[in-house]
Amino acid sequence: MILTMIVSAPLLAVGGVVMAVRQDAHLSLLLAVSMPLMLLAVALLMSRTIPYFHKMQGQIDRLNQILREQITGLRVIRAFVRDTSERARFAVANDTLTDTALHTGRLMAAMIPMAVLVMQWSTIALVWFAAARIGAGTMQIGSLVAFLAYIAQILMSVMMAALLFAILPRALVCARRVEEVLSTPSSVAEPPSPKALTQDPPESVPAARAVNGRIGRGLQFKGVGFRYPGAAAPALHDITLRIEPGQTVAVIGATGSGKSTLLSLVPRLFDVTSGSVCVDGIDVRELSLQALWGAIGLVPQQAYLFTGTIASNLRFGRPDATEAELWQALDVAQATHFVKTLPQGLLTPVAQGGGNFSGGQRQRLTIARALVVKPHLFLFDDSFSALDYATEARLREALRPLMKDTAMLLVGQRISSLRHADAIVVLDGGGVIGTGTHAVLLQTCAAYRAIVESQHATVELV
Ligand SMILES: Nc1ncnc2c1ncn2[C@@H]1O[C@H](COP(=O)(O)OP(=O)(O)OP(=O)(O)O)[C@@H](O)[C@H]1O
Ligand SMILES: [Mg+2]
Repeated sequence: MILTMIVSAPLLAVGGVVMAVRQDAHLSLLLAVSMPLMLLAVALLMSRTIPYFHKMQGQIDRLNQILREQITGLRVIRAFVRDTSERARFAVANDTLTDTALHTGRLMAAMIPMAVLVMQWSTIALVWFAAARIGAGTMQIGSLVAFLAYIAQILMSVMMAALLFAILPRALVCARRVEEVLSTPSSVAEPPSPKALTQDPPESVPAARAVNGRIGRGLQFKGVGFRYPGAAAPALHDITLRIEPGQTVAVIGATGSGKSTLLSLVPRLFDVTSGSVCVDGIDVRELSLQALWGAIGLVPQQAYLFTGTIASNLRFGRPDATEAELWQALDVAQATHFVKTLPQGLLTPVAQGGGNFSGGQRQRLTIARALVVKPHLFLFDDSFSALDYATEARLREALRPLMKDTAMLLVGQRISSLRHADAIVVLDGGGVIGTGTHAVLLQTCAAYRAIVESQHATVELV
C-alpha cells in the first residue's frame, strides 16, 4: 500500500498541479482554495478518530485476553458454575469494543462525502470562472476540458492519501506495539566475552574426577539473593550451597519458600540480584549460554510437553539421540511400560501441552527428556510428586549409576524422596534454616522434624 498509494498519490498531485498551472495560471488559483480545504477536512477528521483507534486496540487486547482465559480455563469455569458471570464479563468487553468501533466507523464514514463535496464544488467554481473567460474569447473550450481532468486527478490523489490516513493510525498503533515487544531487551544476555566450561575430559583432570569418560561439574551458590522484579520482599536471601559432582542435595520447605526460584537461577531463567551462582567455579553470567544450558538437565515443576510425538519430545534437548538412548532414558524414568503399551509406541502423538497424557505420565516423560541430554547438572523440581512410592524408589535406584559424575539438586516435599540425599537444605521464607543429612537435621532443625512428623514418618525417627 505504501508503494502503490503513499508514493504515487503525491506524485500525481504534484504533477497535476504543474500541468494545471501550465495550462492556465489564473484558473489554477482555484486549487489554492480547494486543496487546503480538502486537507483541512481530513486533518479535522483524523484528529477526532486517532484517539479512538488507540482505545480500540486496548479493547481488542482485553477481549482477546478474556477469550483466551475462558477457553483455557473452561473446565474450571464449569466446575465453579461461573458460566453466567463469565458470559457477562465477555459481553461487557465486547460491547465496549463494539461501541468504540461504531463510533470510529461513523466518523470515518464522513470522509468520502466530504471529499466528494469539495471536489464537486471545485468543479462548479471552475466551470463558472472558465465560462466567463471562454465567452470573452480569452480561453479555449479544450483548455477547460483539460483543466477539469487535472483538477479531478489532483483532488483524487489527495483523497487517496486521505483514505490511507484512515488506515495509517491503526497501523501506527499496531506497529508501536510490535516495536515495544521487539525492543524489549532479553534479561538473559550472552556475556560480552563468554567463557566455556572445560572440555571433557581434559587431560589435566585427575582420573578420580573423570567418570564415564567425562568430568563432573560442581554447582555453587555464593551468598545468593534474589528479588522478583517489582516484588516487595526478596524471594531468596543469603543462600550458600555447594554441590560436588556425584552429590545430591535436596531442598525442602513450605510452599512459596523459594525452592523453584532457587532452581530457576541456575539456567538463568532469572539472574541473581546479589551473590552469584557458579558452575565449576565460573559465574553462570559469564558462561556462554550454549555451554550453560548444555550442561543442565531441568525437570520443571510444571510438566510441559510440546505438540509432536513422544520421540520428538524426548529428543528436545538432543536431536541426534538414537532410539536406543530414548528407551534407556524411558527405562530410568520408569516410563517404558506405559510407552510400550501404546499402539504407536515412541511415535504416539502428543497434544498441545501434553494434554493427552496423565499428570504422572507427563512427569515421567519430562524426566526422560532431561535424561536424554546426559547433563552434568540435574535439577529436579518436585518431579516425583505424581509418582507412587514404589515407582519413585525404582526411579531413584535406576538414576543412581547415571549420577556418579552428576551434581543433582532435588526439590521435593516428601521426606521419602529426600532422606537419602547427601545433604538436605531446609528453606523457609527464602532463607536457609537448616542444612545437613537427614539424621543430623532430625537432631538440629525443629522445622525439619515437624515436616517429618507431619508425614507420619515416626518410624524413621528411631
Ligand atoms: N514470577 C514471579 N513474580 C513474582 N513473584 C514470584 C514469581 N514466582 C514466584 N514468586 C514468589 O516467590 C516466592 C517463592 O516462590 P517459589 O515458586 O520459588 O516457591 P516454591 O518453594 O517453589 O513453592 P512450591 O512448593 O509451591 O512449588 C513466592 O512467595 C512467590 O509468591
Ligand atoms: Mg515450586
